[in-house]
Amino acid sequence: MAIIAPSLLSANFLTLQKDCDMLNASVADWFHLDVMDGRFVPNISFGPMLVEFMSSATTKFCDVHLMIEEPERYAEAFKKAGADNLTVHLEACKHLHRNIQQIKSLGMQAGVAINPHTPVESLADVLGDIDLVCMMSVNPGFGGQTFIPRTLHKIEALRRMIDDNHLQVKIEIDGGVTLQNAPDIIKAGADVLVAGNTVFKSPDPTATIAALKAI
Ligand code: DX5
Ligand code: ZN
Repeated sequence: MAIIAPSLLSANFLTLQKDCDMLNASVADWFHLDVMDGRFVPNISFGPMLVEFMSSATTKFCDVHLMIEEPERYAEAFKKAGADNLTVHLEACKHLHRNIQQIKSLGMQAGVAINPHTPVESLADVLGDIDLVCMMSVNPGFGGQTFIPRTLHKIEALRRMIDDNHLQVKIEIDGGVTLQNAPDIIKAGADVLVAGNTVFKSPDPTATIAALKAI
């Protein structure tokens, strides 16, 4: 059964408490928080302060996805804000191995995100050091985009790399996940489904989370 990680980026920020309560009462396993700096990605979202509010309002595993340059400057702040997993982008890190060590030494799980153009083979030399690969299935920066079909081949290839090396790394798929494409994504080998619009723009988010979980 896949881990379901609703992305709060698509929530209504005027009524965040309501959405956090909904998540707590749902079968969601994690909640996914998207931090954007307006430099690595064109959009700006929120920082450690809001992550702290949200992490203290939910009882679920706090999965923080940093779409920012120089993430080493903020790793400690996100640990203090309640992050259980901290994901950095391979394309944003000059010293990715060092970034991973920093996250682990702060006591968080470490994730590495890759953009749609980045081949999974680029992860070969860090795969043994991380807990999660966040595979972007849209170009990062905005919710509500369309899933890039080629991602399915990348999931299969990464699944083979992980299994051939007897690793426990989770494959998380982020962007454009719907009730329609989730079965194929899971079949290809994904462990974690991030879902923003599919959950929060649906008439009954709790039921949509349950439907994703049931796949
Ligand atoms: C996009 C973010 C995603 C986003 C997904 O840059 O990383 O986590 O919230 O939103 P949907 O599921 O609407 O594509
Ligand atoms: Zn994300």
